[in-house]
Amino acid sequence: MILVTGGAGFIGANFVLDWLAASQEPVINLDKLTYAGNLETLTSLQGDARHIFVQGDIGDSALVSRLLTEHQPRAVINFAAESHVDRSIHGPGDFIQTNIVGTFHLLEAARGYWGDLQGEARAAFRFLHVSTDEVYGSLGPGDAAFTETHRYEPNSPYSASKAASDHLVRAWHHTYGLPVITTNCSNNYGPYHFPEKLIPLMIVNALAGKTLPVYGDGMQVRDWLYVKDHCSAIRRVLEAGKLCETYNVGGWNEKPNIEIVHTVCALLDELRPKADGTSYKTQISYVKDRPGHDRRYAIDARKLESELGWKPVETFESGIRKTVQWYLTNPGWVANVQSGAYREWVQTQYAGQEAA
Ligand code: NAD
Ligand code: TYD
Repeated sequence: MILVTGGAGFIGANFVLDWLAASQEPVINLDKLTYAGNLETLTSLQGDARHIFVQGDIGDSALVSRLLTEHQPRAVINFAAESHVDRSIHGPGDFIQTNIVGTFHLLEAARGYWGDLQGEARAAFRFLHVSTDEVYGSLGPGDAAFTETHRYEPNSPYSASKAASDHLVRAWHHTYGLPVITTNCSNNYGPYHFPEKLIPLMIVNALAGKTLPVYGDGMQVRDWLYVKDHCSAIRRVLEAGKLCETYNVGGWNEKPNIEIVHTVCALLDELRPKADGTSYKTQISYVKDRPGHDRRYAIDARKLESELGWKPVETFESGIRKTVQWYLTNPGWVANVQSGAYREWVQTQYAGQEAA
């Protein structure tokens, strides 16, 4: 049995679905169900005894300790976080609370549980912390990609809170011996991605005939990884990663934002052409830039490849096609998200923004 936190979010839910498709080992899924948690993503697991869902906060030490004692998992995989940079700019409080204070309480509960384990169970236990490349800050155009030894230089409240959580995880190993491993991954995309992040927002807005808001000049670079490749990397790290090591996860797919938006438009032009024959590109609108917007992220994933033999399966071309097709064939999932808090959020973020 493993304990997954944040398993109703984008990556966590993909991880749970992939895990149970490949293994009989049960999952306890602890998720607070914030705006980003969506149980509809997990409907295929209804009635499946291998999936135990618990609504709760990683910061609730009593709850986490009880779950650990009752279910005796061999690992905790911590996906739970506030994860959207734009939201962290509007309201950083929840990011500090969940990403820093919540991780602290989770680590303490895990330490208490692990401390009582004996023999084989104690030796095998792992606390795997899922983090981001954003902790390393922003790269210049000619800079080498982030390696695991790159200095931490977080620039947004989100990345600073994730950096703090990474430091706590490291310290809980060095001080208390807790068997931890951290992964730092680049931008993910794929099915079940909440439609306030770049790729799903562009797909959903394009289909709705709305503008496609590109921040600043659209030349910010992100390094994109298909979510199922991130999930396979985490499984591999859990299986064979060395204690207290960090592993960068990425797909060698650096792209400027505007190129991503053009690719999404071109795929929609092919798969769902507009009735008037125009391209979805005509809906692109340049808007005011994000404050403190990091210019470029790029991951050097050679350590994970050479030491653990992990490689991504999807190219950007295959992954983005699958993603666009997924959104086209799952309009119900999107509609249900949109009928919730999503609408209010979109209003706060884009209302009153003039073209840059
Ligand atoms: P997400 O926002 O889609 O999901 C986060 C999940 O955590 C939600 O289900 C939410 O309900 C839950 N949650 C939030 N606060 C909680 C709390 N206090 N207790 C319990 N559950 C809580 O995020 P995601 O994109 O799936 O990211 C998952 C993890 O991966 C995060 O830690 C994020 O920092 C990291 N990461 C994300 C990306 C990316 O591109 N999305 C890239 C690298 C790393
Ligand atoms: P996002 O999906 O929010 O991920 P992150 O900020 O963690 O990288 O944004 C990806 C990139 O797309 C980032 O450079 C900001 C940009 N962006 C836009 O240009 N327009 C948008 O509407 C959004 C949501 C993001």
